[in-house]
Amino acid sequence: MVKAKAYIFDKQFDGFPKKDDLKLIEEDLPPIKNGEFLAEAVYLSVDPYMRAYAPDLKLGETFLGSQIAKIIDSKNPKYPVGQYVIGQFGWRTHTIATGNILGMTGRGRAPTLVPKLGDLPLSLALGAAGMVGNTAYFGLLELCKPQAGETVVVSGAAGGVGSQVGQIAKIKGCRVIGIAGSNEKGKWLVDELGFDHFINYKTDNIDEALKKFAPEGVDCYFDNVGGEISSTVIQNMNKFGRVSVCGAISGYNEKVKAPSIYGKVVSSELVIEGFLVTRWLDRWNEGVQQNIKWLKEGKLKYKETVTEGFENMFTAFTDMLKGVNTGKAIVKV
Ligand SMILES: NC(=O)c1ccc[n+]([C@@H]2O[C@H](COP(=O)([O-])OP(=O)(O)OC[C@H]3O[C@@H](n4cnc5c(N)ncnc54)[C@H](OP(=O)(O)O)[C@@H]3O)[C@@H](O)[C@H]2O)c1
Repeated sequence: MVKAKAYIFDKQFDGFPKKDDLKLIEEDLPPIKNGEFLAEAVYLSVDPYMRAYAPDLKLGETFLGSQIAKIIDSKNPKYPVGQYVIGQFGWRTHTIATGNILGMTGRGRAPTLVPKLGDLPLSLALGAAGMVGNTAYFGLLELCKPQAGETVVVSGAAGGVGSQVGQIAKIKGCRVIGIAGSNEKGKWLVDELGFDHFINYKTDNIDEALKKFAPEGVDCYFDNVGGEISSTVIQNMNKFGRVSVCGAISGYNEKVKAPSIYGKVVSSELVIEGFLVTRWLDRWNEGVQQNIKWLKEGKLKYKETVTEGFENMFTAFTDMLKGVNTGKAIVKV
């Protein structure tokens, strides 16, 4: 008999998540039936969407999330024992699954085998070579359509998505300005990832910094954070500028007020478009393979903030929300 540990969504979050909003339980799993497989979590992802989607979740269910899991038993030929899958199994150590879509309030994908990564670490299938990488790839290239020589600003720049967006914009020949929450993060972005400039939103005047670093204005803005930071960036955009709205993390735990941008949207004829990365499910592999190629060529660099131990999932999650992470935040079981 296999014992699974799982975090159950016990209380709806009120502001910043509290430890007793989730309940860690143990359950006995039955033997698998035909068509099913049993997967054991190896790496679990902690992501901002877990906070953002929480209001849509039912209490009493396993808290949502994706993981890389090893198939340890199988009665489904498409999911052979020994292979690794990416599954939206939620915060749990062991899962009995079929090939069907699970969880994610209907926004999910069916479990897929981890793509061939060569010498790259397996965990990248949750980050730079997975959903996070595809968010950067499609969200930047399809919505901002950055052209060589243009100025691209990215907020949440030192996180999983943001750090990859900035590097893809560099690959496309753009000038890149990253906005994030510590000088240490900024040093990594500029010295190691090749960003042209960095703005610390906690200590710098963003408007003045943008006027200094982008005297000719901003052409593309990849927005991970929303709120006042984004209003300030948008006020500095050029005619026909493009904004890709990926996330709004500044407002996930608290209500934020930001100056209106509408006058500027009209006068500069801006295009502002939100997206969910699942828009490109039919091109998913294209993004993954391009990111893997860039990673192998050394054109994309990555950092992971790894928390050890399933029992530390909650801390890893809230640390990520607080900005403790640089690059993708993951948990190693
Ligand atoms: N649209 C989609 O399909 C899609 C898919 C994936 C992710 N996303 C969104 O993309 C964004 C980044 O996700 P990620 O997975 O790459 O997470 P991440 O950036 O690795 O981690 C979250 C980061 O947000 C920053 N942050 C926290 N509170 C903030 C605040 N009040 N103002 C500004 N920054 C704040 C923190 O860095 P600092 O130290 O810089 O504060 C933290 O490290 C999120 O908004 C997420 O919801 C969207």
